[in-house]
Amino acid sequence: MALRSVLTGVGSYLPERVVTNAELAKRVDTSDEWIVERTGIRERHIAADDQRTSDLACEASVKALQAAGRDAKDIDLVIVATATPDLTFPATAARVQAELGVTQGAAFDLQAVCSGFVFALATADNFLVRGQAKAALVIGAETFSRIVDWEDRGTCVLFGDGAGAVVIEAREDAGDRGVISTFLRTDGRMHDLLYVDGGPSQTQSVGKLKMVGNAVFRQAVEHISGAMLEACARANVALDEVDWFVPHQANQRILDGVSRKLGIDVDKVVSTVALHGNTSAASVPLALDVATRDGRIKKGDLVLMEALGGGLTWGAALVRV
Ligand code: UT7
Repeated sequence: MALRSVLTGVGSYLPERVVTNAELAKRVDTSDEWIVERTGIRERHIAADDQRTSDLACEASVKALQAAGRDAKDIDLVIVATATPDLTFPATAARVQAELGVTQGAAFDLQAVCSGFVFALATADNFLVRGQAKAALVIGAETFSRIVDWEDRGTCVLFGDGAGAVVIEAREDAGDRGVISTFLRTDGRMHDLLYVDGGPSQTQSVGKLKMVGNAVFRQAVEHISGAMLEACARANVALDEVDWFVPHQANQRILDGVSRKLGIDVDKVVSTVALHGNTSAASVPLALDVATRDGRIKKGDLVLMEALGGGLTWGAALVRV
């Protein structure tokens, strides 16, 4: 029997400190009204000064392990999708591995910015179905508050910190559960639409986030829709067979634009953007966790996750949970 990658547990974590739109309006020339109308975001969470991306990742991972009924000794692959690593190297995943007490297999970071979780899930799936790992922790974790330009109203209102994680396991007896199809794409020609203007090789600094917001917006609606259709086509599944859509949470207007374009019932789209803003690679597993814990997503449901981010990168993953 062929191996399949089955999602057995999900968890997430948001730092304690909440920053409301009203609080941001005291720092930059913006308003709660503008932010809500143009993005749907009401508040975001910001990591404490001594909280690193790896700390957020560990908090989410512990909850995912609990949900899966697994512990660290069962895990033999750790992938952390992040654009805000603790340090330039080693990988944040190496610290997460050690903190959790995972002592076997590989651990590495994956950099695809906001698409990172979908890229990491597809990567883990390939390891698992080829028998190269038995149980993986796939984590999206970010501290974007550290790279946001807090003087730039065009970007600082959008982002927040957080983490989400899933346990996925290789199984021969999965039936129709598991990762069914994935679709990943990068087009580096759009590098300059969304980037950080610092890094070890080019500037020897960390840098700040830069975005051509309206251009990214247009690309997002087009390519997220395309990725969703492609993931479904690869699995020979019609869009209306999907039970839940779990998109990257960047902007409510992007979620609505994609739903309109594809004729999707908005009640099937999980939206958590109001509560944490854009948490980059963390946002898909954060939303997945919320909708799993509140009982919307049930075992056996067909879930389509999708994202677009810097690179530009985009992708989708169709999973029967
Ligand atoms: O996660 C990776 C993917 N990232 C995204 O998906 C983000 C995609 N982009 C977006 O979500 C939207 O483009 C934004 C929310 C960033 C901006 O919304 P927009 O409707 O595209 O606005 P805009 O950039 O075209 O700006 C419209 C106006 C400008 O003023 P003028 O030039 O028309 O006078 C901006 O200066 O809104 C102004 N503006 C603001 N006003 C109040 C920009 N940011 C703010 C702000 N508060 N925070």
